[in-house]
Amino acid sequence: MSLRDSDSDGEWAPIRRRFPVMQCQTYLNCAALGPMPDFLLATYQQAVLDRQHLVPSDAAEHARAALAAYLAVDPASLSFWTNTTEAINVVAGSIDWHPGDEVIVNPIDFPSNLLPWVRLSDRGVAVKFANPEAGRLPLTAVAAAVTPRTRLVALSHVFYQTGYRVDLDALGAYLHERSIWLSVDGIQALGLMRPSLQHVDFYMGASFKHLLGPRGLGLLYVRPEVADRLIPAMVGYASVDMDGADEVAGLATVVRRGDPLRYRTQAGRFQLAHVNTEGLSALADLLTFFDTLGWEAIKDRVQQLSGLALDALAEVPGVSVVTPRDDAERLSLAVFRVEGWEADAVVAELSQRGIVCAAREGAVRAAFHIYNNVSDVERLVAAVCALPGAVTTAEPRP
Ligand SMILES: Cc1ncc(COP(=O)(O)O)c(C=O)c1O
Repeated sequence: MSLRDSDSDGEWAPIRRRFPVMQCQTYLNCAALGPMPDFLLATYQQAVLDRQHLVPSDAAEHARAALAAYLAVDPASLSFWTNTTEAINVVAGSIDWHPGDEVIVNPIDFPSNLLPWVRLSDRGVAVKFANPEAGRLPLTAVAAAVTPRTRLVALSHVFYQTGYRVDLDALGAYLHERSIWLSVDGIQALGLMRPSLQHVDFYMGASFKHLLGPRGLGLLYVRPEVADRLIPAMVGYASVDMDGADEVAGLATVVRRGDPLRYRTQAGRFQLAHVNTEGLSALADLLTFFDTLGWEAIKDRVQQLSGLALDALAEVPGVSVVTPRDDAERLSLAVFRVEGWEADAVVAELSQRGIVCAAREGAVRAAFHIYNNVSDVERLVAAVCALPGAVTTAEPRP
């Protein structure tokens, strides 16, 4: 089978045209920063016009409903933040930790999903590193680290440096049977598939990668049964619900009276104050766009393109593929190493040919999305084959 045999670009071609960046680059780096589609210009223009005329905006509630539908959760379980890192900190800081509690983390996770947990050692929490196997963290590897003191497991849905995707249903069911919470950094999955949150207690992410939205817009899902057991790490006028304090001014009176704080229910207790309303209108429009395409179709497409890349790269002499090939264990990333080459040098060479990838932990990461096509895969593979002295044959086998 040649790459062309599996070419289904036709139906996706109109989507590609909505992304101006694709006219001048082979962009394979949305795992770092997603390009915005053209229609967001009109969304932002409308949001600015509304502000100019002080038109009341229901964008936040609209986006909350759209996001809740996407994640199949209660809208009240969602709160909005600046980024994923902030949301992870909110979770880590809001749990009633006891000395001796244990948290399991993934040592090859992004630092945002390590630092807030590791810092809990200040509160007597023991942070244990699970033992990844060749860039994967199967259930058995997590289970090996579980003890009767384990309270929470924190990991990313998709690993940013290897592309491994965790089976949240299997892991979450295993942990819930043992009353252990599961906290998942979903930023490398959101926008590419519908995550199943059936057995997830905390799921966070941000809109600037595969959701193709603005920076400075993070989100947090907290499982309703868990939320009301948490004491929010921070407090603001939006997070409390005090008798006689419907208005902010009334709240100040209640606070001066010295009443104990009463937090809102569900994720309402985490939301502090104003949110990024303009950014949320963009997110709502993006979710409508993705919905129209269909989440299954999106997932299939990014798996198809990254799978073609993995298969073709695996055939190139001197190239070793890092991302697991099984579709159940991956999503949109194709991570690889080139013998004799530093990853940074490969990325620089690819960039000379207009191909934008990233170097992560000594490997090259190509990230596919709905605006990519089979030609992008071919260009990537041909450019890797053309690296001076890296390979011994000019063409990959199809
Ligand atoms: C897995 C993962 N988590 C978190 C982040 C950081 O996200 P944010 O800037 O929204 O905190 C990144 C990348 O930037 C990432 O790849």
